[in-house]
Amino acid sequence: MTAQLLSTSKLLNLDSQKLPQHVAVIMDGNGRWAKQQGLPRIEGHRRGASILKEILRACNDWGIKTLTAYAFSTENWGRPLTEVNFLMALFEKLLRKELQEMNEEGVRIRFIGDLSPLPESLKQEIAHSMTTTQNNTGVNFNVAINYGSRLEIVKACQAIAQKVSSGELSLDTIDENTISQYLYTAASPDPDLLIRTSGEMRLSNFLLWQLAYTEIYITDTLWPDFNCSEFRSALAHYQKRDRRFGKVKLKE
Ligand code: IPE
Ligand code: IPE
Ligand code: MG
Repeated sequence: MTAQLLSTSKLLNLDSQKLPQHVAVIMDGNGRWAKQQGLPRIEGHRRGASILKEILRACNDWGIKTLTAYAFSTENWGRPLTEVNFLMALFEKLLRKELQEMNEEGVRIRFIGDLSPLPESLKQEIAHSMTTTQNNTGVNFNVAINYGSRLEIVKACQAIAQKVSSGELSLDTIDENTISQYLYTAASPDPDLLIRTSGEMRLSNFLLWQLAYTEIYITDTLWPDFNCSEFRSALAHYQKRDRRFGKVKLKE
């Protein structure tokens, strides 16, 4: 059996017609996982990165079109410098190490967030990975780095205001779609499913606009313990949800 068939068969009891198009993940709990193991926090991040690779591959194999992963928030700069530096170095190292394989697997990688304050060498890897994979047709992989939803909305407002003041955009044509088009996520539909690991019941400044009608799945599992079988459970829960979008069903 080919690797592709093997993975698809691992959909097991899931309905392949009812998979979410776009899954977003708040990969939380790396530090707590490391503490449980008696390891430094950075080991949790290292292990977390390999889990992300597994979940990305599952999305690609199962036909989930877009995966958006929260890797570093605008608030995460407030962590100890050693942890921040480790994370920046890890992102860069992973891009170098994994780009070729991701490209061969058809992954299209994009970064969302304010990339300007990132280290130059990381910015170069980011630009290189985006141009290398831009014509790929497999899973769209959005990585949120120095991402904060409020900052994203502020920047969208500034850009829209600029267009209005230069006369390129008229005030009365601004609608919800205009706002969506000025966000970092303009190229993707809104997420259908948000997964947050490690049990926290909050959004932590992630995709506040885009998650308006997203189904939310929170698991106590720490991100480094998350795996394809847990992912399948999240998808199974999603498939049981009744997405009403504020409407009522006239007939059951
Ligand atoms: C998530 O894990 C990874 C990042 C925020 C970069 P944490 O590092 O937040 O782990 P906990 O929440 O402290 O366990
Ligand atoms: C959210 O996790 C950010 C990422 C997963 C990158 P945090 O650990 O930073 O969020 P809080 O502090 O629990 O809200
Ligand atoms: Mg955390």
